[in-house]
Amino acid sequence: MKKIIKNGIIVTASDTFQAELLIEDGKIAQIGSNLSAIGAEIIDANGCLVFPGGIDPHTHLDMPFGGTVTKDDFETGTMAAAFGGTTTVIDFCLTNKGKPLKNAIQTWHDKSKEKAVIDYGFHLMISEINDDVLNELPQVIDEEGITSFKVFMAYKNVFQADDETLFQTLATAKDLGALVMVHAENGDVIDYLTKKALAEGKTEPIYHALTRPSELEGEATGRAARFAGLANSQLYVVHVSCEDAVQKIAEARNKGFDVWGETCPQYLVLDQSYLEKPNFEGAKYVWSPPLREKWNQEALWNALKCGQLQTIGSDQCSFDFKGQKDLGRDDFTKIPNGGPIIEDRLSMLFSEGVKKGRISLNQFVDLTSTRAAKLFGLFPKKGTITVGADADLVIFDPNVERIISAETHHMAVDYNAFEGMKVTGEPVSVLVRGEYVVRDKQFVGKPGSGQYLKRAKYSMNTPLNQGETLSIK
Ligand code: URP
Ligand code: ZN
Ligand code: ZN
Repeated sequence: MKKIIKNGIIVTASDTFQAELLIEDGKIAQIGSNLSAIGAEIIDANGCLVFPGGIDPHTHLDMPFGGTVTKDDFETGTMAAAFGGTTTVIDFCLTNKGKPLKNAIQTWHDKSKEKAVIDYGFHLMISEINDDVLNELPQVIDEEGITSFKVFMAYKNVFQADDETLFQTLATAKDLGALVMVHAENGDVIDYLTKKALAEGKTEPIYHALTRPSELEGEATGRAARFAGLANSQLYVVHVSCEDAVQKIAEARNKGFDVWGETCPQYLVLDQSYLEKPNFEGAKYVWSPPLREKWNQEALWNALKCGQLQTIGSDQCSFDFKGQKDLGRDDFTKIPNGGPIIEDRLSMLFSEGVKKGRISLNQFVDLTSTRAAKLFGLFPKKGTITVGADADLVIFDPNVERIISAETHHMAVDYNAFEGMKVTGEPVSVLVRGEYVVRDKQFVGKPGSGQYLKRAKYSMNTPLNQGETLSIK
C-alpha cells in the first residue's frame, strides 16, 4: 500500500529538512511537499524526526559461544532491533576449520530465513586460509553476496587465527573486493594473563577486565592496521573500546591506510567499575574487549566526532544472567562473553550523543546507518533517504523520556545492560521496505518477512570518498 509521511523532519547523513515522503512498492518514490497519491495512507510524523533505518553491522544472533548459545535468535533479536530503530543487521556467520564454508553459510540461512523480521546479511568468519578456502571465497562473494570477512585475533583455542592467516585474508580480500573485520586483542598474552590470574585464585568477573588490558587491544589494532597497509588492503576494526586502539586507527588513517573503526554504545556509557558489582552481577558486563576505565569514553566520543571512528555496532551477543552468565560463577573465564545491546543502540547514541551535544544529528545518522551501508555494500538501497532507496524508515520522537529496563525491553534476556538509565528519544514507528514492523510502539511485523541481502563488493570508491554514482537495484 502507498504511504505518505507528512509533517516530519527528514534527517540524512548530510541534510536536515522538512519534506514529505511518498512510499510506493517498498521504495521511496517522491520527496517533496503537498504530495498526494490515490489510496495512499497518510502518516502524520508531526513533532518527529524521520531517519533512514538503522543498520547494525555487528550482531551475534543464535550463535554458539562460551559453552552455550546466545539467547536472542533471529526472531527476538531482529524484533528488538526493530523496536530500537534498526531495520538491517549484518550477523557473523561462524565457520568450522576443515569444513566447507558453504555449510556454515547454509546453517546461518537456516537460523534466519523463517525468523528475521527485518532485512539481514552475513559476514563470514575466516579462521584458516588454504586451497579449499581460496577456491570457495569467490563463490561466497559472487553467489552469496558476502563481502566482508571476520578474523579473530583473540579467543585462543576457540576462534583465534594466527598472523599469517590474518595477513593472507587481507591480501585475498584485496583481490576479491571484501572488507576484513578484526576483533583486535592479543589473544596469546590474554591467555597467559588469565591462566596466571586463575592460578592466583582470582576468579571474580573484574579479572576479566584486568587480564585484558587496553595495551593488548592497542597492540593488536596497530598490528592489524600495519598488515592492512603492507597488504595494501582494507580493514575494519570492530568494537573499539579504548584510546589505545583509537590512536592506532588514527595513525593508520593518517598514513592513508584504508582502515575503519567501529565502537559500541556500551563502551561510550559504561565502564570497568560495572564488573565489580556485588553478588556476581559484574558478570552481566563481561564482554570482550572489556569495559575500560571511564576516561576512555571521552577519547571514543572525540573519535566519533572527528571521524576517526565511523560506525556504531551493537555487538549484540546476549546471554541470560541466570542460567548462562552464571556458568562462570567460580571462574571468570567461563562467563559467556557478550551483552544485550541491539535494542538500545540508537536511543543511547541519540540521547548521550546528540542530546548532549557530542555529535550532530547528521553524524548520528551516518554512524548508525549510512556509513555501514557504504562500507558493507548496501548503499544507496539502504542507509539513506533518497528516491529509489528502500523505504526503511524510523519515525523518531526526539523529546520523549523513558527509563531503560529489562521489564520493558523486547530482547529475550533477563537483564538490560543499561538498566535504570534515563534516555531521551524513542522510535514511534519503524518501516522496512515500506511496511510497518513497529507501529505506534507496537510490534506488527512478521517472522520471516526480513529479506536476505546480497551485498556489493567493497571498494574504496563505495564509501563517500570518491563520489562514485551507484545504481539502486
Ligand atoms: O564479548 C563479545 N564481544 N562477544 C561477542 C563475540 C565478539 O568478540 O564479538
Ligand atoms: Zn569480538
Ligand atoms: Zn562481536
